[in-house]
Amino acid sequence: MRITVRVPATSANLGPGFDCFGLALDLCNEVIVDTEAEPGVSWEGEGAGELPTDGTDMVSRAIAHTVELQRQIHPGADVPAFGLHGLNRIPLERGLGSSSAAAVAGVALARVLLGDAGFDDPSATFAYASELEGHPDNAAPATYGGLTVFAAGSGYVHRLDPHPSLGPVVLVPERLRLPTAEARSALPSSVDRKDAVFNIGHAALAVVALTQGDLDLLVVALHDRLHESVRGAMLPEVAALLDDLRHRQLPACLSGAGPSILVFERDAHVVEALPDGWRAIRPGVRATGVEVVVEG
Ligand code: HSE
Repeated sequence: MRITVRVPATSANLGPGFDCFGLALDLCNEVIVDTEAEPGVSWEGEGAGELPTDGTDMVSRAIAHTVELQRQIHPGADVPAFGLHGLNRIPLERGLGSSSAAAVAGVALARVLLGDAGFDDPSATFAYASELEGHPDNAAPATYGGLTVFAAGSGYVHRLDPHPSLGPVVLVPERLRLPTAEARSALPSSVDRKDAVFNIGHAALAVVALTQGDLDLLVVALHDRLHESVRGAMLPEVAALLDDLRHRQLPACLSGAGPSILVFERDAHVVEALPDGWRAIRPGVRATGVEVVVEG
């Protein structure tokens, strides 16, 4: 049996939707598991040469995690030996959900290997992947595609269609990397009520602007007061570029915890010359989340 799983990059937060909003981007990692191949793990593309090949990578851990969960229901559950090959297009540690994509891929693969007849029902994939990886605001769009709202506390996920006119651009710094755990540890554990109120209003506006394609409104709506200023202080080069884009009336925010920036081009307002060391990716929005193809 050969299983191919395709999972999109995701941009979490979208400014004020801290830990709640996420957007799927049409930039996908592919993982192939083949039960006829020599057992082992290999990678090509982003992160090849630095990702582990001893089974401690996030895809392999998510497979093992799913098998463990299944054994709590069916004690004899197991998967056959397999070779795993990953083709990575999502840059690592740049705020584009590479770790969530790996977790979602692993859970989806395990469900097929375990003979889960409902493997194409995404809700268990989302639940297992976010429990393991810890970032449901990335796991939700990676699983469901489109624009997702994850309601922390209740665990409710709602998927929306972003307006088709949206043209997301991801600006990726080649030399800067920021593990999410480090970017989170700098955040204060409590926030001022004025800042919370600011984010509630702007988050609601962001949903309206993203679904209606109102890019004038989006310029305002993507502002945040819960996380971006702290992170900007850690990443002055990123903060300077973000300020510059906003001054040019482009809707922009940090992508996830950074250091990449998410920006939406509109009319005459497009991303032009970038500072040295930055690249622009124009992936488009991805309407669908994880895809699984089974052969043999
Ligand atoms: N919402 C997370 C954060 C990023 O900003 O720390 C990815 O889940």
